[in-house]
Amino acid sequence: MCGIVGYISKDEKASSILLDAVKKLEYRGYDSVGIATINNGKIELRKDSGKIDEVDREIHFVDMAGSAGVAHVRWATHGHPNKTNSHPHTDNNNTIAIVHNGIIENHEELKKELIEEGHIFKSKTDSEVIAHLIEKFISEGFNFQNAVLETFKLIKGSNAIGAISVNSPNELIAIRHESPLVVGLGKNGNFIASDVPAFLKHTKRVIFPEDNELVIMNSDNVTIKDLNGNILNKKVETIDWDEEMAQKEGYDHFMLKEINEQSVVVSDTLAGGKDIENIVSELGNIKRICFVACGTSYHGALTGKYIFESFLNIPTDVIYSSEFKYFNNVLDEDMLAIFVSQSGETADTLSAIKMAKNHSKTLAIVNVLGSSITREADHIIYTKAGPEIAVAATKTYLSQLVSIYLLAIYLSKNRSNVFHENMVSQIEKVPDYINQLMLDEDQIKEIAKKYKSASVFFFLGRGFIYPTALEGALKLKEITYIHAEGYPSGELKHGPLALIDEDVVVVVLAPSENSNSISINSYNDTVNNMEEVKSRGAQIIAITSYKNGENINVNDIFKVDNQVDELLSPLVYIVPLQLLSYYISIYKGLDPDKPRNLAKCVTVK
Ligand code: M6R
Repeated sequence: MCGIVGYISKDEKASSILLDAVKKLEYRGYDSVGIATINNGKIELRKDSGKIDEVDREIHFVDMAGSAGVAHVRWATHGHPNKTNSHPHTDNNNTIAIVHNGIIENHEELKKELIEEGHIFKSKTDSEVIAHLIEKFISEGFNFQNAVLETFKLIKGSNAIGAISVNSPNELIAIRHESPLVVGLGKNGNFIASDVPAFLKHTKRVIFPEDNELVIMNSDNVTIKDLNGNILNKKVETIDWDEEMAQKEGYDHFMLKEINEQSVVVSDTLAGGKDIENIVSELGNIKRICFVACGTSYHGALTGKYIFESFLNIPTDVIYSSEFKYFNNVLDEDMLAIFVSQSGETADTLSAIKMAKNHSKTLAIVNVLGSSITREADHIIYTKAGPEIAVAATKTYLSQLVSIYLLAIYLSKNRSNVFHENMVSQIEKVPDYINQLMLDEDQIKEIAKKYKSASVFFFLGRGFIYPTALEGALKLKEITYIHAEGYPSGELKHGPLALIDEDVVVVVLAPSENSNSISINSYNDTVNNMEEVKSRGAQIIAITSYKNGENINVNDIFKVDNQVDELLSPLVYIVPLQLLSYYISIYKGLDPDKPRNLAKCVTVK
């Protein structure tokens, strides 16, 4: 996955605006960066591998002149991360510069034909064929925009392209198919980008081009055409995110800022409850549910299975998006297929929703307005987390969870089921519980310092809190590179117990039973499972709200001092786990915002 940006203005220097914009997309890829501008009738190109700040220190992007340009952050798919493979790419004569996000599935054959026709390729990327194809079509008499269009018709796969040409210095052209692309309408110029935060500082007015729509922009106007050249009347939308939301605001890292925002995110998501209630009233009869998601979103979905099956008696499946195609025969009109995705662009989830639509009712739970998955869904719940920049999902996970709880609550109300009673008022206490936990951050720091050199972690939980254990393990893996596994507490003795010794750290999630009739009382069983690992020498960190929790036999304990119902414990217990991973990453000297090999949004299958 990569991030692309383009900017065209009358007289503003594009390079500084592009540099700032591309930094906002660094979460999409950070192994290379580059900018191309049109300067005095020539393409000026600077690019290299490395993180943006490192590369910028060497090649000083802002020295580049020109009021139109394109920029790119790369997460390598074809070709190693190095200077030559970095974008933008140019044609033979350096008259065209392109940036690309996606994969050109037929690039080998296109490249072969172009080489036979005399084109000389500099890089090992699939993307470079775009620049050469545009050059070829221009040499055959097409104008710039039609040359981009003809190029686009030849390439296969999921792609978003931005292009500039010295032959049309007042035009910036872009086009997309299944890869994200948004247009920003600025005061002094216009933008294209893979995601809104790139230009949020300059404008909140956006157009979302659909697949196969050509964007033609100059500094004053934006025209969108279909593949036959017909001009389309597109809606201009206003984004309700603020620029500050995409800034660190004094925090050392976006991840820490985003963890700290969670109490507000829970309140904001609750405030959108009416929209979810309205959607439920439109869903009609549902006999089965199938959640489809990847990564952290999958863990949110898995929590949904516990809720929908235990309390609403709705049979619920949870399928990894990449595995969905092997199960899609189960689709029918009585099923609600729910696609959970922060970005709304994850390729596997997007393919899955395309398979499911027209067979089942589809609902997308997504954070990014206008993203590809939302365009395929019958119904959309937007999570109210604001932009999430750190690669590791935190606040969006919590807002997905709250949305799923609200969905269950309103479905239950619709079915006159008791589950909904008091639940909203109980969730309303969660922001206070989270704020309370954040006051004990120092305690988590101490635990993180103590265990930062451990090489194996297990995370255990039972019932509703089991998916939280999976998410805790994923967070630790992602940003600390420590091997971590999440398990149902009762499952360890069926094999993994063989791995337990004094070098292993086991984090046990033990929410307390309470008097609420819907709680499921897993605490005593969890304590027994804890004893099993303790007696094999493991070091145990317990996270518990149990009133006598301090009496249990563990190495460290983090007391959750509130009376959160076990059923709602996933909304609270994830916070200390996020902090634990964050601080271990810090004490290991790593950058938690930009974990190696990972990108925020995975637009390749
Ligand atoms: O945007 P999505 O929610 O569809 O992304 C799914 C996963 O790629 C994502 O959750 C990934 O696991 C994150 N890095 C988790 O922190």
